[in-house]
Amino acid sequence: MSVGMSEASPGEKASRVFRQRILSGMRPTGPLHIGHLSVLQNWVRLQREYECFFAIADWHALTTAYDEKTDYGGLASQIALDWLSVGLDPKESAIFLQSRVSEHAELFLALAMIAPLSWLERVPSYKDQLQQLGNVGKDLRTFGFLGYPLLQAADIMLYKAHAVPVGEDQLPHIELCREIVRRFNYMYEEVFPEPQGLVGSVPLLPGVDGRKMSKSYNNAIAIAASTEEIKGQVRMMITDPARLRKDDLGHPEVCVVHKFHQVYSPDVSRVEEACRGGRIGCVACKAYLAENLDKELAPYRAKRLEWKEPGLVEQALKQGEERARQAAAETMDEVRRAMGLVRGSGVPGHG
Ligand code: TRP
Repeated sequence: MSVGMSEASPGEKASRVFRQRILSGMRPTGPLHIGHLSVLQNWVRLQREYECFFAIADWHALTTAYDEKTDYGGLASQIALDWLSVGLDPKESAIFLQSRVSEHAELFLALAMIAPLSWLERVPSYKDQLQQLGNVGKDLRTFGFLGYPLLQAADIMLYKAHAVPVGEDQLPHIELCREIVRRFNYMYEEVFPEPQGLVGSVPLLPGVDGRKMSKSYNNAIAIAASTEEIKGQVRMMITDPARLRKDDLGHPEVCVVHKFHQVYSPDVSRVEEACRGGRIGCVACKAYLAENLDKELAPYRAKRLEWKEPGLVEQALKQGEERARQAAAETMDEVRRAMGLVRGSGVPGHG
């Protein structure tokens, strides 16, 4: 704990003695795919070392999808089941829906008071997305969308997280969060730690068609994919276009199947040499990949079945929500005090 930080509550003190805190989140946009797997595996590892909070960021989803009415409750259960099937453990970590803990919205408002517009306007993803989605006719000149990274800062700060496991693309958001933390601590009181971004190594896998893997391109392999689905999707993978017969010499460097072998097959170099020498055909090469991919996903499918009983996932989310609420309320109490606002139900000067 840094010098000058305000007094922590006993519960908070106890948890700090043992473990630092982590917060991360994902927007609920549909079933997760194998491109998300390494991030989730990293979260699973971290939950032993840190006290973890994992938020399903439904408010964030609304910053761009504000004009579609979406059943976020349903999407949340789906993404939670994906998380649980990979091994996030609700006994270890708080897994919850962001909008159900209203302090996220409250801290966002508090931080909005001190966030200079120029800081928000210069966040790279803001400018990029504004342009990209503007091109497809979406009006993102909204207050909410400009506030996207500030809402993310509120997510992180609400739990006084020390570390935030994210993809590299999110680092500018973490940087903004650190600046907001410094500004708050300097203006009012030293309430928040400066969080670090933790970037894990993420193998870059293309979609089955060779473009970026994305649900919206319909080229992604779901974490929950069955053996048959895996086979079907691997069959659709784009291979070396110069290879017409199976004894033609192959060029693995241009082949999507090869990129997947590099991540999922134990004996990549054997497969690679056989392809270059024209000793394995694309059909057999794909069948072998499908087999290895299936081996990778099978344990997650098995674990998913453990959560099949109706109500179990909701129960895990409820449990996470309780934990998150408690931590969030403690922080907001400090924030209100630091900013000179009335806290709890008390009236200043009346106890
Ligand atoms: N912006 C993140 C993404 O798109 C999701 C997110 C929301 C998040 N709140 C967060 C990530 C807090 C880390 C910490 O991936």
